[in-house]
Amino acid sequence: MLWVKSLHIIFMVTWFAGLFYLPRLFVYHAMTDPADKTGIERFKVMERKLYFGIMTPGAVLTIVFGTWLWLGYGFSGGWLYVKLAVVAALIIYHLWCGKLLNDFKGDRNTKSHVWFRWFNEVPTLLIFAGVILAVVKPF
Ligand code: HEM
Repeated sequence: MLWVKSLHIIFMVTWFAGLFYLPRLFVYHAMTDPADKTGIERFKVMERKLYFGIMTPGAVLTIVFGTWLWLGYGFSGGWLYVKLAVVAALIIYHLWCGKLLNDFKGDRNTKSHVWFRWFNEVPTLLIFAGVILAVVKPF
């Protein structure tokens, strides 16, 4: 079980690396002068590679190994069900990032860099909730 939990935590860290960094790229992308074509194209490449190369595999493998722990080793308790709600919120946030990625790809973004700075704070709240629920198991 400890190997499965280790992989669960490793891919959780990978997922959050993307959840923290992609919205930050959106902040700077939204601040970039539309006339700076080279800069805009560079952001598009970085965002696409981060979302599909790191963030999404991290999400899938966090969920695969978490579910393996949950169902394979018979974990239960209030902490786990609230944690699954946190995971549902993370999946919605992840897919929202995918939609925003598409908006930027088509130069259709309408949101300001200030909006993205607030948007970037959401994963911080969710990682506090997820890790405290998993480690402390308060209920
Ligand atoms: C569908 C998604 C997930 C499921 C089913 C799941 C389930 C589990 C289970 C059953 C454990 C073992 C608990 C123990 O050994 O005491 C665990 C450990 C852990 N999970 Fe998840 N998890 C999921 C997603 C996440 C996410 C998104 C995070 C981060 C926010 C996370 C953070 C952790 C941590 C840090 C541990 C280690 C706890 C410890 O060893 O004390 N998990 N998870």
